[in-house]
Amino acid sequence: MNIITKLALAAGFATALSSGALAQDVSGKVIGFSQIGSESGWRAAETSVTRQQAEERGVDLKFADAQQKQENQIKAIRGFIAQGVDAILVAPVVATGWEDVLSEAQEAEIPVVLLDRGIDAPEDLYLTSVASDQVHEGRVAGQWLVDEVAGEDCNVVELQGTVGSSPAINRKQGFEEAIADASNITIAQSQTGDFTRSKGKEVMEAFLKSSNGGADICAVYAHNDDMAVGAIQAIKDAGLAPGEDILVVSIDAVPDIFTAIAAGEANATVELTPNMAGPAFDALGAYWSDGTMPEKFIITESKLYTAADDPQGEYERRKDLGY
Ligand code: AHR
Repeated sequence: MNIITKLALAAGFATALSSGALAQDVSGKVIGFSQIGSESGWRAAETSVTRQQAEERGVDLKFADAQQKQENQIKAIRGFIAQGVDAILVAPVVATGWEDVLSEAQEAEIPVVLLDRGIDAPEDLYLTSVASDQVHEGRVAGQWLVDEVAGEDCNVVELQGTVGSSPAINRKQGFEEAIADASNITIAQSQTGDFTRSKGKEVMEAFLKSSNGGADICAVYAHNDDMAVGAIQAIKDAGLAPGEDILVVSIDAVPDIFTAIAAGEANATVELTPNMAGPAFDALGAYWSDGTMPEKFIITESKLYTAADDPQGEYERRKDLGY
């Protein structure tokens, strides 16, 4: 079984991907993909899945790694336009600053599909956006904490994603909404860890130092699992037990967080499928075959996992999926 089939089965996309008709729709097309970089395990998986999806469907994928810089993404998109690609996939690192380059793609009549992050720009500049409901993800994480602490006082430290990115903005908002009526829960400190493991650890170390060695922290909410894994290491280095002394809740559902949950060192994660390309290629295929306009927002599922959800089994199911 190849990586995509495994992922499809794991993430519930089996029906869509098993259709031969869909697989042919984009065959022979040249599609540019401006990827953000490789800041997290989830991002690495999205890259592998996109490459695999392209290969399976006969797409000539032109891949550009922007190394976390919007200017590199804009350059790559302009390059794709100059090459005359059939479509462009973009995972936009930040939410603002896309109007000019997307207008250029529109003038060149090249459809653009946004993957996994949203932008603040007129909706007619892209064909569709395949992403999770990131506010909902934050709400799911926040509601888990509300239920878990059951009225006990709880000081939370928050590790935010990349400043100005839609998941950082929306996951913060959703979490705040979920805890709004819980006067026992307070966000004591909040800082960016840039979605990376190393920054997550570094920022958590600073939080611990300024919070009585961690004694004043009840929970860490990380906008992705990689930062949570970094925070877990910092908590352990400080002589505390992550998952017990300090609760850990995050987003992505990468294999490493299931290892941590199985070991009792993390408590909950909200799944984000790395298969954004599958629905994107389906949408492009339908658009090219008979002009079908896709939904403007194709929303992926956001399922909560805890220790009650067979974390070891979830690790096994995901470990070979490109993370
Ligand atoms: O845009 C999705 C986010 O980007 C993932 O949750 C995070 O891991 C990645 O860096």
